[in-house]
Amino acid sequence: MAENIYPIYKQMLGREEKERLLGQHGVMVWFTGLSGSGKSTVALGVERELQKRGLVSQILDGDNIRHGINSDLGFSVEDRRENIRRIAEIGKLFVGNGIITLACFVSPTEEIRRMACDIIGKDDFLEVYVSTSLEECERRDVKGLYAKARRGEVKDFTGISSVFEAPENPALSINTGELTLEESVMAVVNLILNKQ
Ligand code: ADX
Repeated sequence: MAENIYPIYKQMLGREEKERLLGQHGVMVWFTGLSGSGKSTVALGVERELQKRGLVSQILDGDNIRHGINSDLGFSVEDRRENIRRIAEIGKLFVGNGIITLACFVSPTEEIRRMACDIIGKDDFLEVYVSTSLEECERRDVKGLYAKARRGEVKDFTGISSVFEAPENPALSINTGELTLEESVMAVVNLILNKQ
C-alpha cells in the first residue's frame, strides 16, 4: 500500500525544536468513558486552566470529529475502530508539535484504546477514565440518547446495547458524579503538569 510513497519526515523540523519554541511538552490525554460521563466538560475546563498557565492545548471531541473528518462512520465495532484509528493519527501530529492534546472519545474497548496508545506511543499517552456510572449518565441524559436507546431508536448504544469495558490501569480515574467539576479538572491538570 505504501509503495511509491516517500515521506518527508526526516527533513521536517523536529519535535524538540517545536517544544522549545512553545515552552511545553506535547502529550496525549485520552479520556474514555460512557456518553454523558463528562469527558468533554472536563476537557473544556482543563483547556481553560492550561491556557491560564500559558500552555497550549487542543481538544479532539467525538461529536465534533464525527461531524467532520469522520462523518462517514457509524457505531459498529469496525467503524468505532476506524474512528479511533484516524483520531489517534491526527492526535499524534498534534503531540509531535508539542501540543497538549485532549481526546474525548467513548473508545469503549481495551483493544481500541490499546490501538490508540500504540499509534501515539506509550510515553506520550495518558489514559483518563471518566468513571461516572451508567445510572448517573442515564439520569443526566444531556442529549436524550439514553431514552432513545432504551426505546430502541438508537442501535449499538454504548452501555445499553453495545459494550463498554472499563480500563484496567488508567493513569487517572475521575467520577464526575462524585467530584465537583473543579476537582475533576484539577486532577487532570496536575497529571499534565507532572509531564511538563
Ligand atoms: S466511539 O465509540 O467511536 O469512541 P465517539 O466518542 O466517537 O464514540 O462518539 C460518541 C458520541 O456519539 C456520544 O457521546 C453520542 O453523543 C453519540 N452517539 C450516537 N450514537 C451512538 C452510539 N450508538 N453509541 C455511542 N454514542 C453514540
